[in-house]
Amino acid sequence: MKQLAIFSLLSLFLMTSCEDSPKAQAQDSPVEKKEVVEKTKPGQDTKKDDKVKVPKELSLKDLMIQLGKDMNGINDGIWQEDFPAIASSAAAISGHPHVGASTRARLKKTLGKDMMLFGKGDKKVHDTALRLGEAAKAKDMKLVLTELTNLQNGCVECHASFRSRLR
Ligand code: HEC
Repeated sequence: MKQLAIFSLLSLFLMTSCEDSPKAQAQDSPVEKKEVVEKTKPGQDTKKDDKVKVPKELSLKDLMIQLGKDMNGINDGIWQEDFPAIASSAAAISGHPHVGASTRARLKKTLGKDMMLFGKGDKKVHDTALRLGEAAKAKDMKLVLTELTNLQNGCVECHASFRSRLR
């Protein structure tokens, strides 16, 4: 009797473990699902590709973040006495990319006729960055520093006038 009890216990155990194994397989199945997902990926990729074809336009904020990095580039160049690096960071500022069309439209709408002043502020920074670049090419550190101060003034002047209105 004891043997039978053990046998039935064993078979119960075996049965449950047999029931367990499909579960274990079910746990494995995400791997299979993954494969399925991967198989369906080409379709998803095409969608992604479609989005890539229409690149996200440059926002004012992204442009500004880049200008901030370029300013750091100028500073690094000054500490390293690396005039070509200063010149190239200055060129990145004077030749900065333009914001996208819808950002430009929003600026115009928000600023109205002050858009002219905004444009002037941008031009001032542009022209100063050009002069800073020339000073760097001439390896004139004193002039580089003078133009850097002018450049920073240009950045901050525009921030003081427009930042709160355009946030
Ligand atoms: C013609 C106007 C104008 C000029 C010139 C200008 N900025 Fe800005 N800047 C703005 C405005 C407006 C904002 C706020 C944008 C926003 O919050 O979406 C801003 C924001 C910023 C920010 C903060 C971005 C963030 O993370 O929120 C940085 C950094 C910055 N500017 C750097 C510069 C530097 C460096 C220069 C000069 C080389 C400069 N800006 C020149 C208008 C200007």
